[in-house]
Amino acid sequence: MTDINPSIAFVVPAAGVGARMQANKPKQYIHLGEKTVLEHTIGKLKATLPDALIIIAISDSDAYFKDLTLPENVITVTGGKERADSVLNALNYLSHNFSIEWVLVHDAARPLVLPSDILKLISQCQTTQCGGILASKVRDTIKQGTSFVENTVPRDSLWQAQTPQMFLLDELTNAVSNALAQQVSITDEASAIEWAGGKVQLVESRADNIKLTTPDDVAIAEFLIAKQLLEIDKCE
Ligand code: CTP
Ligand code: MG
Repeated sequence: MTDINPSIAFVVPAAGVGARMQANKPKQYIHLGEKTVLEHTIGKLKATLPDALIIIAISDSDAYFKDLTLPENVITVTGGKERADSVLNALNYLSHNFSIEWVLVHDAARPLVLPSDILKLISQCQTTQCGGILASKVRDTIKQGTSFVENTVPRDSLWQAQTPQMFLLDELTNAVSNALAQQVSITDEASAIEWAGGKVQLVESRADNIKLTTPDDVAIAEFLIAKQLLEIDKCE
């Protein structure tokens, strides 16, 4: 067992093809300004906890990762068929090779997250000793229906789940691995923990921690990244 950071590591699923983005490469390799989405994302994690391990799941057929400039504390593992398979490969790698207590899973496709929000999540989870996720309150009026409105859904208790999602490594590895073994569909880490009967706390985050999904998102992300970089410059 190697003990680099005694308590916290990041896992970054980056093995998707980005079908909905319809780009000529997986969306984590699209440029936002001078850097790729994945480089921006890793930069945010590094800025949050400079020494923490970052385990990135990449596809076997990935032709782009080798050209990136990434910090030394990055290790790659092979991705899987679905996001949850990629995450589980990274969790198993961590469990077998390092002594880590908490893990934060963060989508490669969410480069806009702020280190201050990640630190808020870490502090909240460690203080309460309970896992949690970044999430933003739903702002729009929500309608239910197919072609016509059947219902207006009260939004007071509705949240949009984001990442990072932070859990004890053992608890999360067991939950994801058991859920996959029983063919339960899990779209994020929290849903595996919920399925296993565990608790997930909601930690409010900025709504602009968006996941790049469709072509429209690229222009928004380019604008927001440029704005964030200007704000960092002003502080220096
Ligand atoms: N991901 C992964 N392994 C997979 C599928 C997805 O590691 N087998 C990663 C993606 O690279 C992304 C994150 O999980 O960073 C969130 O998934 P999503 O937004 O759905 O990305 P893609 O699956 O790449 O996009 P799409 O669903 O449009 O194909
Ligand atoms: Mg997907």
